[in-house]
Amino acid sequence: MIKISSLSKSFGRFKAVENLDINIQRGEIFGLVGPNGSGKTTTILVLLDILDPDPGAKITIDGKEIPKRINEVYHKIGFMPQELSLYLDLTIEQNLKFFGNLYKIPKPIIDSHIQEVLELIDLTEYKKRLISKCSGGMQRRCSLAVALLHQPEILILDEPTVGIDPELRIEFWNYFKKISKEKGVTILITTHYLAESINCDQIGLMNKKILISGTPIELMENVRRLKNLESLPDMEEVFIHYTHQEKKEKKLGGIGR
Ligand SMILES: Nc1ncnc2c1ncn2[C@@H]1O[C@H](COP(=O)(O)OP(=O)(O)O)[C@@H](O)[C@H]1O
Ligand SMILES: [Mg+2]
Repeated sequence: MIKISSLSKSFGRFKAVENLDINIQRGEIFGLVGPNGSGKTTTILVLLDILDPDPGAKITIDGKEIPKRINEVYHKIGFMPQELSLYLDLTIEQNLKFFGNLYKIPKPIIDSHIQEVLELIDLTEYKKRLISKCSGGMQRRCSLAVALLHQPEILILDEPTVGIDPELRIEFWNYFKKISKEKGVTILITTHYLAESINCDQIGLMNKKILISGTPIELMENVRRLKNLESLPDMEEVFIHYTHQEKKEKKLGGIGR
């Protein structure tokens, strides 16, 4: 559904993303997992044609070359940015109405879409509340509802679980799994919480480039085998292992040159 190869993005002389390759299948939850500053948001902004990549990148969404044919797929994408992007002086329901109209959802069905997302994200009883009077968690839930309003086939979520309490974090992952399983939505999600990446179907561990990708269990099993561990390591250990490996390879490359 989403294919990226050889994606690099520089800001002046600084390379934020280096030669990134990912392949996301239809209907899966793909986690782009890496520490702060590892290039996750930059990658998403290139995918959404907000930033231009360095020359040489090949990107397709649903088979359409990006950026050339972005207009043919934009309506299929729901995006939840890292920061709040709602009107504080409108209620939850009014925000949804506003974005529903922007998305050009036909008038006769807009209300049923609103009702559906409010129910899905458990916001129905709060729909008359002003965003400014909502808790941070509720604001996040409303952002997710907005991203889902036009029934997108692809959902792009940039660190949706940052700064929310553990209980809501679990609830969020349950929403994501429900949306993916019940509606067949393809989800690209970024996180710097390594532990929660085990909720994804596939992950790419990232630090400017993809260090390794696979299912969370595959990666843990790999490291268990390589390090002769008795039990499966946690994702932090997996990440540290592949980061160290990359540093070693870089050093070796330097000596060989
Ligand atoms: N517009 C920009 N100009 C210069 N540097 C940037 C810009 N946007 C991001 N960066 C830098 O690129 C790196 C990757 O940033 P980002 O993609 O936001 O990482 P992440 O989302 O993984 O935290 C960081 O070092 C950041 O400071
Ligand atoms: Mg970011």
